Amino acid sequence: MDSFTKNMVVDSSWSFSDLTKKETSYASHGYHKYPAKFIPQLVKRLILEYSREGDLVLDPFGGCGTTLVEAKLNNRNSISIDVNDAAILIASAKAEAIDPAILETNNKLILERIAKSNDHKDYYANANSRLKYWFKRKQFNKLFKIYNEIQRESDKNIKTFYNCCFSDILKNCSKWYSKSIKPQRDSSKKDVEPAHAFIEHLNYMTKQNLEYYNLLDKSINIVESSVKKADARKTMLPKNSVDLIITSPPYAISYEYADIHQLSLLWFGSTKNIAGIRKDYIGTASKRKAIKSARIRSTRGLNTIKSLERLDTGLANQIANYIVDLDLTFREMHRVLKHGKKMCIILGDTRYLGIKIPNTDMAIELINNAGFNINKVIKRKICSKIFTPYRDSTGKFSDGESGKKRRIYQYEYIIIAKKKLLLMDCGVRFFTYIYNKFLISLQEAGNLALWDKYDN
Ligand SMILES: C[S@@+](CC[C@H](N)C(=O)[O-])C[C@H]1O[C@@H](n2cnc3c(N)ncnc32)[C@H](O)[C@@H]1O
Repeated sequence: MDSFTKNMVVDSSWSFSDLTKKETSYASHGYHKYPAKFIPQLVKRLILEYSREGDLVLDPFGGCGTTLVEAKLNNRNSISIDVNDAAILIASAKAEAIDPAILETNNKLILERIAKSNDHKDYYANANSRLKYWFKRKQFNKLFKIYNEIQRESDKNIKTFYNCCFSDILKNCSKWYSKSIKPQRDSSKKDVEPAHAFIEHLNYMTKQNLEYYNLLDKSINIVESSVKKADARKTMLPKNSVDLIITSPPYAISYEYADIHQLSLLWFGSTKNIAGIRKDYIGTASKRKAIKSARIRSTRGLNTIKSLERLDTGLANQIANYIVDLDLTFREMHRVLKHGKKMCIILGDTRYLGIKIPNTDMAIELINNAGFNINKVIKRKICSKIFTPYRDSTGKFSDGESGKKRRIYQYEYIIIAKKKLLLMDCGVRFFTYIYNKFLISLQEAGNLALWDKYDN
């Protein structure tokens, strides 16, 4: 079977390769590090091309809320969904622009409280064992002092803003190897002073909040944005309610989002057991139930699974689960999207044990089967996504510095699909139309009969 994307050329106008890090982190976009987050300019272009002011834009794999912020800045209502509590915290902080004067006053107060605090309790003694693995006792207790002062903040938005700031500094203040997105301990890492890290990042976020506030101030409409913890496969949103979907699903066996965000998830008490929540995430490498081939509604997917089965049955099963999960998500997106409206999926292919995992081609097949027409596919070069784009010879992610490594994720694809009417919908619509016509003609006949009576 021919690949849909095989001979496609890059459309450089979608690569945004000339943008600096500062330009892609304007307003609230730079509040928190997040793997594989969107370039805001890419999302903005899709929003402007495929929706109108006042429309509702949904991102079912919302991550740190890039789509939500861009929708807000461009006068669109928006919903950002994710299963990850760390994503919910970050997106919630990024959504709200706080009155700069009020924020400045609160900043002074909280920093004073932190400086004056004489809390010398040993919080480390009763800490979660996984947190003990990541933090030194001294660092942990200093961080806890800051955390306690944040929880005393009474304004909900400001508290979320501080919690987001705190979440961002956790990695720096722990033994987490700084150059790695993946969990890796660096026992020779130098201590970072938590109070300094907090003040520095708070100053940065405060400056960015001002920029965001001023940008929003110029917008004409008041729009609503909401961040929801939910599963993209079952959003609980009403059917036919969304005007545009922009999203980037996780890649198959790429990132374990639960592991990557474990410091925040453990610290804020979302879970005590990271391994236990992995299964909720699409694309996870954790053990999942066996999938019958009849449930794989992608020929390319089935071929890939067959090739993988010869090398690693566990891996083949992970990909099978991934395909079923994507299928369920696209069906759910079809349910919530209004007829004739667009869904933009950003996805790239990957490789594992020398075998290409054609995520994009598989997604195109599934999207078609779910009741969409593919309008356009754009190939773009990945330039500034926070990615670890290397795997070593065993197939594991590597930092790209050592050993034999190969670069993956050089390109990705923007699939633009339009919701078509399913045959059943067409049938229901047709019969409703005929029935209404029939009622009108009955009414008219009744009125005529009445006139006839008067005439006589
Ligand atoms: C590629 S990232 C999206 C990043 C996002 N575009 C941004 O700019 O921040 C994929 C996201 O999917 C989320 N995710 C994984 N499984 C999910 C599920 N079943 N339902 C909803 N979100 C899920 C992950 O937590 C992660 O945040």
